[in-house]
Amino acid sequence: MTKILIALVALVIAYVAALFWFDHVDHIEKWDWETIDTKYLSFPDGFVWGVASAAHQVEGGHTNNNWARWEQTSYPDGRPHIDRGELCGNACEHWTRYPEDIRLMQELGVKSYRFSVSWDKIMPTPETVDTSALVHYQQVCDSLLAAGISPMVTLHHFSHPIWFEDMGGFEREENTVHFVRFSTLVFNALKGRVKWWCTINEPAVFAVGAYNDGHFPPGKKDPHLAATVLGNLYKAHVAVYKAIKAEDGGAAAQVGIVKNMHKIDPMQSWDVLDRLLAHLVNRGFNGSFISTFTQGEYVFSIPGVVDVRMEIPEAPNTLDFVGLNYYSHNAMDFSIDLDEALQTRMYPGERPTDMSYTMYPEGIYRAIREISAVNKPIIITENGVADSTDAFRGEFIAKYLYAVQKAIADGYDVRGYHYWSLTDNFEWDLGYSMRFGLYRMDFATQQRTLQEGSKVYQRVVQANTK
Ligand code: FCB
Repeated sequence: MTKILIALVALVIAYVAALFWFDHVDHIEKWDWETIDTKYLSFPDGFVWGVASAAHQVEGGHTNNNWARWEQTSYPDGRPHIDRGELCGNACEHWTRYPEDIRLMQELGVKSYRFSVSWDKIMPTPETVDTSALVHYQQVCDSLLAAGISPMVTLHHFSHPIWFEDMGGFEREENTVHFVRFSTLVFNALKGRVKWWCTINEPAVFAVGAYNDGHFPPGKKDPHLAATVLGNLYKAHVAVYKAIKAEDGGAAAQVGIVKNMHKIDPMQSWDVLDRLLAHLVNRGFNGSFISTFTQGEYVFSIPGVVDVRMEIPEAPNTLDFVGLNYYSHNAMDFSIDLDEALQTRMYPGERPTDMSYTMYPEGIYRAIREISAVNKPIIITENGVADSTDAFRGEFIAKYLYAVQKAIADGYDVRGYHYWSLTDNFEWDLGYSMRFGLYRMDFATQQRTLQEGSKVYQRVVQANTK
């Protein structure tokens, strides 16, 4: 009897200790918003305000990249790859309408524009360069600079040429040379105009979407391959960083990578199995980034699912800054059925957004805390909300910016913030239904209209710009 009692007490102690340990490695913030005033937000002098976009989502006219082909085809069961069978088409015609979009940026008062360049338009084949495409981006940069807005260029934002995809893309490490060649070409065309460079956007989102979940091209479902691609992407970042530094010649380019710190949390924080599962998935998705860029060790390991390890010893010395994208968190609910267990869920009780996640502003504070482990200046390269009725965009902006302000006050080195996105645009496999824009798009007329909720951003930007 006493033995049973001792065993029970030991079990309870172990359970509680495990809960404390999980909380120690990643404390789940929950703030009482009733007591928080988000009306007057104040940011340090020199804090950079911006907006972000990506080539495939806004430019229009893509015929030669992985997404252009993906949208023309369907899953084996007949479902189109893009919701409602939508095609990206002309998107926001940003390729020709960029002067108008720059005027909108001026209307907001932002001083930085993060955008990506189309590898497929610049290099229609592995051997050919379309100089007119490079000239186009030079003109975009010149127009931005003339408007007092500094360009920040992303070299890979989910899209690349079909020829690159067909040779195996980032599945094959030896293909990295093509990405380095393209990046060097763009760097030499734009250096002097562009100081801020992001090598790769959200490597983990791309690798998981394209090679594990299969809802991004090429639509494979293989966890080992996804983890291998992610490691190869980190290696590609290192190679591009070194190539840019070799060509820099006094241009003082600042080079970083963009990490989405989507948080994976337990459905029930008292449930040690939910906690364990969330911890393992979070360690793979986010922890592998931290270990790569702090120790040069890439480890993506979820027991029973995947185990990929690579030594990338130079990685910790290849960040001048780190770009942070943050939107939300999802919940893990433990189950012995592995497929079931790995499904992420929305939190009941939190405000849903139009995406499959809720509004969780505390998470941006946690994301900043977690990414600060790499010990580099942090620039928020994306944050925003899909809200088709503009019902809570203003509340979203005020609360997330409050959390950023708090992180700065607590000593974290956050230098800038880019709202995703200037205008509504083509949201990858979800098509045109997700409206993230500060400006609402009428895609039939190409008219852009400032949303009411976006005025909160405009006010904060203008009140915090000298
Ligand atoms: C991010 C992507 C960006 C956009 C936003 C909503 O994961 O980087 O292109 O789709 O989500």
